[in-house]
Amino acid sequence: MKILVINGPNLNMLGIREPGIYGDRSFSALENFIKESAAELGVEVSLFQSNHEGEIVDVIQSAYGVFYGIVINPAAYTHTSVAILDALKAVGIPTVEVHLSDINSREEFRRFSYISLAAKKTICGKGFDGYREALEYLCME
Ligand code: DQA
Repeated sequence: MKILVINGPNLNMLGIREPGIYGDRSFSALENFIKESAAELGVEVSLFQSNHEGEIVDVIQSAYGVFYGIVINPAAYTHTSVAILDALKAVGIPTVEVHLSDINSREEFRRFSYISLAAKKTICGKGFDGYREALEYLCME
C-alpha cells in the first residue's frame, strides 16, 4: 500500500516559522516522524513538499493509478485553491487533510477549506501526530 504525503508552502520552514503556533521541531523532523510512523504501520510513503500550487497539482495528477491514498497538508492553499481541490476530485484517490494547528480556532479566513470538500477526513490541531492518525485512517479504509 503506497501513500503519497504532500506538504504545501512554508511547511519547509517548520522550526523557524511561528514556533508558538507550529512548534520548534524542524521540517526534516516531521519527515522522519512520518517515515517512522509509516514503517510501524507497514505502509510505503512517498514524501513531497512544494511552495508552488501548480507543482502540487502536478504531483496529485501523477499519483493517479500509483498511490492508494494521499495525506495532504495544503498549508495556505487550503483556503484558496480550487485547483488543488479539482485535482483531488479528478484523481479520486482517498485523501486525508492534515493541519498542524487548529485552523478552526485561529483567524476567520482559516476556517474555510476548499480541500475538505474532497477529503474523506480532516485532522487539525494535533501537530505531528495528525499525520500518523491520517496514515492509520487510510490503512483502515
Ligand atoms: C496549516 C494551517 C494553514 O492555515 C496555514 O496557512 C499553514 C499551515 C497548518 O498546518 O496548521 O501554512 O496548514
